[in-house]
Amino acid sequence: MSATLESVTAYAPAASAREKSPAVSDLRILPQSGWTGAEIQGADLSRPLPPAHFKAIKEALLRWKVVFFRNQNLDHAGQIAFGRQFGPVTPGHPYEGDVAPAGFPEIHTVSPDAYAKRYGPNYQKQVGANGPGWHADVTPLINPPAYSILRAEAVPPYGGDTQFTNVAAAYAGLAEPIRKFIDGLRAEHRFGASVGAERSREKIGDLVRSNPLASIHPVVRVHPETGEKVLYVNPSFTKQIVGVSARESRHLLDLLFEQAVIPEYTARFRWEPGSVAFWDNRAALHLAPRDFAHVEGDRILHRITLEGDVPVGPDGKPSESIEGAAFKGA
Ligand SMILES: [Fe+2]
Repeated sequence: MSATLESVTAYAPAASAREKSPAVSDLRILPQSGWTGAEIQGADLSRPLPPAHFKAIKEALLRWKVVFFRNQNLDHAGQIAFGRQFGPVTPGHPYEGDVAPAGFPEIHTVSPDAYAKRYGPNYQKQVGANGPGWHADVTPLINPPAYSILRAEAVPPYGGDTQFTNVAAAYAGLAEPIRKFIDGLRAEHRFGASVGAERSREKIGDLVRSNPLASIHPVVRVHPETGEKVLYVNPSFTKQIVGVSARESRHLLDLLFEQAVIPEYTARFRWEPGSVAFWDNRAALHLAPRDFAHVEGDRILHRITLEGDVPVGPDGKPSESIEGAAFKGA
């Protein structure tokens, strides 16, 4: 039986099991590609999850790295309550400032207006219209968020899709000698590294100069829940591999960045109002839309993040903070 079929039938037990656990049989897990992403049908995220739904969602998330829901009726409070069932919810962002909606410091709004307020009016021009490239959320933290939950309030009639990639699969797809070699490497992640924010005259420059955020993480991270090894670098935040020359770092990172986003490891999500994407930042990268110049209409999404732990490499050594405090949730 293929992996895809197994995952669908795993949550559709035989009649005898269904009678004992009625909540399980009404969830459908629909994988969206060979490696990455599954749509989950039959769950209502606005109410406390029955234990069987919680378990099925968590298992699908760990396997497919990102899960999607449609037509959910969530407001800010409902999104936070949903997230809290899976772990402590952090403030919206280390640089959120006063941009969060009143009364909801956990909400990080993703829209051109919110980014202009947070980072300065020309920020989007500097980094391209659509924000940074492939990344996991806020990896410069010593304990980057474990999960992110993003819900759509308004989306354009077409375009504005988000892409995801499975970096456990990307790691496993490297040849063994390369895997062994990179298992021993570490890299610096720094907020603003990819956009030269430390030199920026925009608000983002003041933010990173007054409150810099940087850590040394293992290039290969052992996932704390699945035990999988994952490729833990990303082109938005990973500044350099430490202990090698700048030239060596650049070539190594180019190879790893390219490996992480090979199309076979990726999936693409088309937003609708009420859509929710829930991903594992420890095993997936995502890419904000690159096509805003070709679409019209508002795109307003709201994100929360769940507290993460300190990454650990295959050698058992944890990450080290360079600058910035741990990011705790409640
Ligand atoms: Fe992100």
